[in-house]
Amino acid sequence: MKILVTGGAGFIGSHIVDLYIGLGHEVCIVDDMSHGKEENVNSNAKLYKLDIRDKELYKIFQEEKFDVVCHQAAQISVPHSIDDPFLDADINVMGTLNILECCKKYGVKKVIYPASAAIFGEPQYLPVDEKHPLNMQCGYGVTKHTVEHYLDVYYKLFGIKYTVFRYANVYGPRQDATGEGGVVAIFSEKFLANEAPYIFGDGEQTRDFVYVKDVAKANAEALEGLDNEIFNVSTNVEVSVNDLFNIFNELTSSNLEPVYKEERAGDIKYSYMTYEKISKACGWKPEYSLKEGLDETIAFYKSK
Ligand SMILES: NC(=O)c1ccc[n+]([C@@H]2O[C@H](COP(=O)([O-])OP(=O)(O)OC[C@H]3O[C@@H](n4cnc5c(N)ncnc54)[C@H](O)[C@@H]3O)[C@@H](O)[C@H]2O)c1
Repeated sequence: MKILVTGGAGFIGSHIVDLYIGLGHEVCIVDDMSHGKEENVNSNAKLYKLDIRDKELYKIFQEEKFDVVCHQAAQISVPHSIDDPFLDADINVMGTLNILECCKKYGVKKVIYPASAAIFGEPQYLPVDEKHPLNMQCGYGVTKHTVEHYLDVYYKLFGIKYTVFRYANVYGPRQDATGEGGVVAIFSEKFLANEAPYIFGDGEQTRDFVYVKDVAKANAEALEGLDNEIFNVSTNVEVSVNDLFNIFNELTSSNLEPVYKEERAGDIKYSYMTYEKISKACGWKPEYSLKEGLDETIAFYKSK
């Protein structure tokens, strides 16, 4: 298959590119390198350094004739989406429409797209499933969810198939310590420097941490299945930030004490997500335990 991965020089996109190439697919990347890194780019992928909003984007589609687009490029910062909602909407909505119009014009059969747990707000019940009511608390949640509707409309109008994944907190090698859900990246850097990271609030807030290689595998399943549906990609395991801190102490043989800071406004208290739907549809389940994933992640930051 010929596949375009937008954002393929970023954290999650680069792992998807590696897996697609490992499976024998031909992969191109469109990334403006605003948050991507050259070192993440697989040497067997063709990189186009371009903004997804660029009106010249169609030339790449015309030339390459993609079967599938896996659209990972996005403005991913929640605070930026609050400070500059125009830029957030411009990249995440208008940029995506630029891609969808190219897909329509040049016969792309399918789009794979990541939404986010940010669309649920404070959960009304746990674990969160795909039918959970939406309650966005920031522009980022709104723009990520808006695209879910556009994908459905492009399928109904033009027959372009889609799969939407709602990722939990993705972690793993190559994650930027400033990104969405970057707590594992921040803890990795801090523990390896033998410095205690801050914990906001009492540390009893919980999250669902899914390893990036498991996320990439879900994106491979979507190449030939999971059509026109929304799926959580998660672990169904609730981990508190205090638990995470203790696991880091154990895995790095440290004995650090957390430094607690005031709770951040708008932070969600408890969250984890069921992956039952995708598991029933194709057998996907997370293969990495948290400790296995953290071991690989810490080894990556150590080697940097
Ligand atoms: N990391 C998470 O826990 C998480 C959770 C839910 C959803 N997501 C989604 O997964 C996707 C990948 O996120 P990530 O964590 O790998 O982020 P990332 O910032 O590492 O990757 C995004 C990539 O997109 C590129 N990009 C940004 N704006 C662009 C533009 N206008 N034109 C071209 N390229 C552009 C960046 O340079 C970067 O390489 C995003 O769509 C994000 O919303 C991530």
